[in-house]
Amino acid sequence: KTPIAVLISGRGSNLQCLIDACMGEDYPARIVAVISNRPDAYGLERAREAGIAAIAIDHKAFDSRMNFEAALDAALREAGAEFVCLAGFMRILTEGFVNAWEGRMINIHPSLLPKFKGVDTHARAIEAGESEHGCTVHWVTPGMDEGPVIAQARVPVLPGDTPETLAARVLVEEHRLYPEALKLALEKA
Ligand code: GAR
Repeated sequence: KTPIAVLISGRGSNLQCLIDACMGEDYPARIVAVISNRPDAYGLERAREAGIAAIAIDHKAFDSRMNFEAALDAALREAGAEFVCLAGFMRILTEGFVNAWEGRMINIHPSLLPKFKGVDTHARAIEAGESEHGCTVHWVTPGMDEGPVIAQARVPVLPGDTPETLAARVLVEEHRLYPEALKLALEKA
C-alpha cells in the first residue's frame, strides 16, 4: 500500500471517504498523516478517530507562504508520505512546492474542469445556466485547477437548485469519485 497524506482545511467529508476506502484490504493506499492549515478543522477529528496522525500547521503562524510550505513539506516527509491528496485544502500552493510533489499530488475540485476554476463553483454554474455540473479529480500542476484530469462525475442542474442543493448533489459524487480516482492515479504514478 502506498503511504499517502491528505491535506484538508475543513469538514473533511472527502477525507472520510478516503479513510473508509483505505480500510479495504485490496485498496492500494494507506493514510499516514492528515494535515490541516486550520487547527479547528473537523477533519482532524475524523483522522484522530481513525487512529491516523492529525497534524495542524496553521498558515497564520508563518510570515511567508514559502515558510508555511517548508513546514508542510517537512511534515509530509517526516510522516513518510509518498503521495498527497488535497481534499478541500483551501490554500494556494506555490510552484516550488507543487514541483517538488509533481506526479505525486492530486486534488478534487467541485466543477467539471476546465469550467469554473476557483471558488463558488456551484453558484457560478447556476448563474451561467448550466444544465450539467459535477466534480473533477486532477493532477496538481502550478496553474490553479489546471492539471490533467484523472476522472470526472456529472450531475444535472435542476430547476430551483440553490448553491446548497447543487453542492449536496455534487458531494455525493465526490465521495464516490475520489477513492476511484486515487486508485487510478496510483496506478499511473
Ligand atoms: C469539497 O466540495 C471539495 O471539492 C472542495 O471543498 C469541499 C471540501 O469538503 N474543494 C475545493 O473547492 C478546492 N478548491 P470536505 O472538507 O467535506 O471534503
